[in-house]
Amino acid sequence: MVELNLRPSHPAFHDLPWDYPISDWHLYCPYLEDVPRGLSRHPVIFINYQGGIYALKEMPPEVAEHEFNLLVAIEEKRLPAVQVVGHAIANIETGKRSILITRFLDRSLPYRSLFMRSTLLRYRDHLLDAMAGLMVQLHLGGIYWGDCSLSNTLFRRDAGALQAYLVDAETAEVYPEVVPPTMRFHDLQIMEENVDGDLADLGSANLLMDGIPIDDTGASISIRYQKLWEEITQQIIISPNEKFRIQERIQVINSLGYSIGEVLLESVDSGDEIRFQVLVTDRNFHHDQLLGLTGIDAEEMQARMIMNEIQELKATLSHTQNRSLPLSIAAYHWLKEVYLPALERITPKIFEKGDPVELYCQILEHKWYLSERAGHDVGHQTAIEDFLRLGH
Ligand SMILES: Nc1ncnc2c1ncn2[C@@H]1O[C@H](COP(=O)(O)OP(=O)(O)O)[C@@H](O)[C@H]1O
Ligand SMILES: [Mg+2]
Repeated sequence: MVELNLRPSHPAFHDLPWDYPISDWHLYCPYLEDVPRGLSRHPVIFINYQGGIYALKEMPPEVAEHEFNLLVAIEEKRLPAVQVVGHAIANIETGKRSILITRFLDRSLPYRSLFMRSTLLRYRDHLLDAMAGLMVQLHLGGIYWGDCSLSNTLFRRDAGALQAYLVDAETAEVYPEVVPPTMRFHDLQIMEENVDGDLADLGSANLLMDGIPIDDTGASISIRYQKLWEEITQQIIISPNEKFRIQERIQVINSLGYSIGEVLLESVDSGDEIRFQVLVTDRNFHHDQLLGLTGIDAEEMQARMIMNEIQELKATLSHTQNRSLPLSIAAYHWLKEVYLPALERITPKIFEKGDPVELYCQILEHKWYLSERAGHDVGHQTAIEDFLRLGH
């Protein structure tokens, strides 16, 4: 007997061996898939089912329901986390168990390889920034995590850097607004302990490459967190004729990827000075813009890089045609004349590596590098040929 509670537009999962503990499913289920994964407390398996890969985690029913509700709340707040599909309550020999189903986060990198392989050393800084950035995003969105660790985080490439995703929400809690300071502090302390513990484990198993400090990696994430938090939440005092500084501030916040919900203005007691603070909603500013204009669903920094290119194209086209073109026309032109032809040229690479948007961003990066060396814009064509020649 199984009771399935599924969200819309997912398979029904009715032919899975729900009567058995998932640790035995290798005996009964033809869909099991082997994927790179982090450490876990509960049994976790992966299935390849009707064209999608799903993660299944078995735990006590109340815990699964809590995690399910939390992941739904996190998704509604548009924060980066694995997508929850549903949960099943099954009666197995050992009693009532629940299985939480999430969609496998494809293109995600296991942290272990980021710390273990020296070729990926350049990602280390990005990884620490990504974890700090994820915690800032969650706290601003009212999510206390309670168990941030390397195993509970997944990483995706994002325009040369990384975007971190929450994968384990078992201990999380939702606050109506921004997470209060004491709880943010507590969350950081847990993260520091967990991360240093994760690294100590890798170290004692002789899996950690040289040059990674075990003791202060967690603290270094906290420092990055504090800097970013202050940058985003600072209050600024201006005089009435300095209102332009509000616009400047909005631009800085947007360039970090955050969208603005509202701007708070209040007079300072002493006189006619004004204190303002911008309140952010989520970190999807360029993502939403690019999606709306082109239908491309990119990571935030990838989207920023591409939107800059579209803005530049709009300026060039407006200049040559001697009229101001709307951004939508420039975006269409970019898609048809720049992006799709580039993807076509690198089709074999896309088959090999997946992730077309990230490959395109790498080409842009390479184009800048070549252009800087040449002292003029070398163009996409040259950049693509050289990119392929170097076997990136
Ligand atoms: N949806 C998912 N996509 C990708 N990996 C996942 C997903 N769900 C779980 N995993 C992998 O499984 C591991 C364990 O999952 P987690 O939810 O942390 O279990 P536990 O609560 O037992 O710690 C994670 O470290 C991650 O690598
Ligand atoms: Mg976990």
